[in-house]
Amino acid sequence: MAKLVGGIATSHIPAIGLAIANGLQQDAYWKPFFDGFPPVREWLARVKPDVAIVIYNDHGLNFFLDKMPTFAIGAATEYRNADEGWGLKALAPFPGDPRMSWHLIEELVAADFDLSTCQEMLVDHGFTVPMSLLWQDVVPRAVRVVPLAINTVQHPLPSPRRCYNLGVALGKAIESYPADLRVVVVGTGGLSHQLDGERAGFINREFDLRCLDDIVNRPDELLNLSIHDLVEQAGSQGAEFILWLVMRGALSCHGVREIARKYHIPVSNTGAGLLLLESVS
Ligand code: DHB
Ligand code: FE
Repeated sequence: MAKLVGGIATSHIPAIGLAIANGLQQDAYWKPFFDGFPPVREWLARVKPDVAIVIYNDHGLNFFLDKMPTFAIGAATEYRNADEGWGLKALAPFPGDPRMSWHLIEELVAADFDLSTCQEMLVDHGFTVPMSLLWQDVVPRAVRVVPLAINTVQHPLPSPRRCYNLGVALGKAIESYPADLRVVVVGTGGLSHQLDGERAGFINREFDLRCLDDIVNRPDELLNLSIHDLVEQAGSQGAEFILWLVMRGALSCHGVREIARKYHIPVSNTGAGLLLLESVS
């Protein structure tokens, strides 16, 4: 049976992708951010996951406001990236695992999570920046992927509790897959940031640090937050934290051991967070 080996969460700011493309990891502005990643990459090199389920939000590349699924999962043999206008070059395609995708779809729909199923799906910076941070932009790629996109763009958004519960069902679905695969769940986005309106540039360090601690040690405490609470306390794009909660819900079938945690501001307009939790059981 497949084994859920752990969960990782990281911010997905497009400027990180540009910094990687321009080799700026040791630059004074970027170094404190990139310095969080070697322990995570060492863990990945040791554990060698076969498949990554990547929980992210599409920002307008694959879905636009005219058609906005709450939950959408990839079931393709590969996932391409394309120009979103950030100046990022399109990366080589990411190989999928359609058998794993269809197993997850069967199990999640049976658990009352009605997903849009995408046999073609472009993946944006919410997906590609974390992939470059974790596995670098190396071809052939080290993992197969299943992208799971959640609407954080057009209200109403799914609540923190609903997303955590989706994660719980996802964790069970992963571990009922009848092949000996090592699977990692990656949550992307957050932490606090607001890119638009009067509060553009808003970052809430205290709230971010509380979220980082609670998501490891007492995730239940985060589940009564509403989307309104998240927008108020973390900014309108800080609601991307629901993607981290899917990752944490998936790990609820195991105990967790914290391997890495990092918080750094500012990275572009965002409080940048990083977390690696290993499954223990
Ligand atoms: C930024 C952060 C995001 O999450 C995003 O999707 C786009 C931009 C930023 O901080 O610049
Ligand atoms: Fe984003």
